[in-house]
Amino acid sequence: MEASEPRQAERSMSSVELSALRSSPSRSAPPIARPFLRWAGGKGWLVRQLEQLFGEIEFNVYHEPFLGGGSVFFALGSGRAAYLSDKNPALIETYECIKSDPSRVVEYMRAYENQRGAYYAARDARLNCSYERSARFIYLNQTSFNGIYRENLQGIYNVPYGDRTKPFLEETCFVRCCAGIGEFCPIFWRFRRW
Ligand SMILES: C[S@@+](CC[C@H](N)C(=O)[O-])C[C@H]1O[C@@H](n2cnc3c(N)ncnc32)[C@H](O)[C@@H]1O
Repeated sequence: MEASEPRQAERSMSSVELSALRSSPSRSAPPIARPFLRWAGGKGWLVRQLEQLFGEIEFNVYHEPFLGGGSVFFALGSGRAAYLSDKNPALIETYECIKSDPSRVVEYMRAYENQRGAYYAARDARLNCSYERSARFIYLNQTSFNGIYRENLQGIYNVPYGDRTKPFLEETCFVRCCAGIGEFCPIFWRFRRW
């Protein structure tokens, strides 16, 4: 069954907020989009050394075969083509939805509560809409145990609830993380699924 659409008024509000955030970047401006997922093995710790690592090296195209939470990709900033890949199709689907309509993902995220029963209900639900699945992906990522991504042998996500107290959707913060992702990839993103 296809999910019901988010209410139009709420979608418009988020779109306005997003366009305001999107209007600021230029090629030389610091990136406004940031990683929005907890991801095991993320290279956030390395990002502080990017200047040292890349120095004056100029390049026009960025290739990232192991995208994960995308710390390095986001830290390098916008203004060039990027080919981003990961073997995790749910992760790639989430980036694609965030890129094409972040406010729609946010609307679906608003329906979730950071609560044990709600977590397991969401984890077990069958969803046919990619935006709903993406909202759930981010919700589970933010509220699960250690933010790890794990599937059983049948390919079913099976990470337990994390008992985190941190709000999983501080909307402005989340929207800011997602805003401008389109500008990061002015030509296209290519996600490889296999
Ligand atoms: C440690 S994370 C990447 C961190 C990220 N590069 C960063 O800047 O923070 C590793 C990612 O590689 C992906 N991965 C592992 N093996 C892969 C493979 N053979 N092909 C594509 N992606 C793979 C995993 O799904 C995971 O999302």
